[in-house]
Amino acid sequence: MTKIAVAKGDGIGPEIMAAVLSVFDAARVPLDYEFVDMGKWVFDKGYSNGMTPEAQQVIETNGILFKGPMETPKGKGVKSVNVTARKTWNTYANKRTFQTLHGVDTVFSKAGIPIDITIVRENIEDTYGGIEHMLTHDVALSRRFITRPGSAQVIKYAFEMAQKKGARRITCGHKANIMKLTDGLFLEVFYEIAREYPGLKADDVIVDDLCMKLVSRPDLFDVVVLTNLQGDIVSDLCAGLVGGLGFAPSANIGDHISIFEAVHGTAPDIAGKNIANPTALLLSGFGMLRHLGLMEAAAMMENALLYTLESGIHTGDFGDKATRSVNTTEFTDAIIANFGKLPANHPKPIIADQQATPTHFRLSENPMLESKDLEPVTIVGVDMFIESNLQPAVIAEKCLHHTSDLFKLVTISNRGTQVWPKGSSFTNLVNTYACRFETIGEVSATQVDILELYKRLSADFKICSTELLNKWADKKAYSLAQGQ
Ligand code: NAI
Repeated sequence: MTKIAVAKGDGIGPEIMAAVLSVFDAARVPLDYEFVDMGKWVFDKGYSNGMTPEAQQVIETNGILFKGPMETPKGKGVKSVNVTARKTWNTYANKRTFQTLHGVDTVFSKAGIPIDITIVRENIEDTYGGIEHMLTHDVALSRRFITRPGSAQVIKYAFEMAQKKGARRITCGHKANIMKLTDGLFLEVFYEIAREYPGLKADDVIVDDLCMKLVSRPDLFDVVVLTNLQGDIVSDLCAGLVGGLGFAPSANIGDHISIFEAVHGTAPDIAGKNIANPTALLLSGFGMLRHLGLMEAAAMMENALLYTLESGIHTGDFGDKATRSVNTTEFTDAIIANFGKLPANHPKPIIADQQATPTHFRLSENPMLESKDLEPVTIVGVDMFIESNLQPAVIAEKCLHHTSDLFKLVTISNRGTQVWPKGSSFTNLVNTYACRFETIGEVSATQVDILELYKRLSADFKICSTELLNKWADKKAYSLAQGQ
């Protein structure tokens, strides 16, 4: 028996979790459940991360968490337990599979266009770091971290998974045409890793074009890997393609701990009524069983679910409104009664169980700390973000007083658009400017040089933020302002 941690969740969580576990029990799935306390009532008891220390201990020991949706209390300054769990245990890959389910009518199922898309979303970095500051009363800043090792981790997972599932194509969705350094780094790592998988067709699509193509020809895509925020949006778009959130399973995969949950939330509007649709959590559960190598039971139960959907049995949130909907318990009983039956469309092959690779070892070192990039780095300037409601020419004049033999003022930008030395009187301004100082002749500066410039400039301006301008060998490690 494999031990896993189970958290029932809030709202409809306990109902749909009970439904899924009753299907598992009827199929005699060899799992031992250790129920843990996480969610709203744990926050209410005063645990600020939404889980008890015992829950954390059990999850870290077992390495697998199967969870229902959880509510984040509003306005108490607490962070979502769902996000905390994903980050604490470094579940860096969020895998969501979207497939045509016969019996769940969508535009594409009616048009006979089959969908089978797996979205792999980076789960830790990007703007989801939540590193945000108000620079002035008018200007909020979010820091977006995209890292080489973080990107490599999730992209490597996506390629491995795509290869294992015999994917036709793996696509990187990105916005590297605009965000040349952040999305550019993600895309660069994608193609570096693609070289290790010559048998897989790897390509890339700009994320807006990807969205357009997904809603017009979703059948052309197989595995798509994206950064966190873009992946979040694109995966909900894909949920819409196959019938909505009630059919969207999710796996948060890490090297040590993995979390399996439905994409939807606690559905407070229907909680306690025994009418929720357990399909998304069931599909997440099947993903978990496959992760654990329990292939046969997963395929048998998934076929029973697909057969049940094909036969028109449905909860109130989908299906033919002209036929009576069933409640959660009746839906679950119907699946159990259909054990052993095969759906007419795309039955899952029954394959033998596999040995799961044990993964949940503790970190004894942080392998991602070591950068393999050994190019020499020099500081060649600094961006000083200042608060001011003066016009660019006046700001420039003040800044020029503080330049020296070492630094020259190169450009001033506002919201990323150059406004000095050249600019347009049609550019609207807000009260944070970025003043870029570079060293004359790109000679190397020290942090003390930067501090001295900071000190001089602070006589005239409030400096809200600074960013060093680094150069690696002869490559600038910073972007240019629009128009620079
Ligand atoms: P929601 O997904 O809970 O509900 C949106 C709509 O979909 C509602 O009308 C709901 O009745 C319906 N719905 C959702 N799941 C359903 C199911 N299985 N069967 C039938 N209908 C279903 O999203 P909402 O209302 O934005 O969030 C409610 C709470 O859930 C919030 O506290 C939010 O923080 C939390 N949440 C938790 C997540 C997690 O634990 N991973 C994910 C998303 C939201």
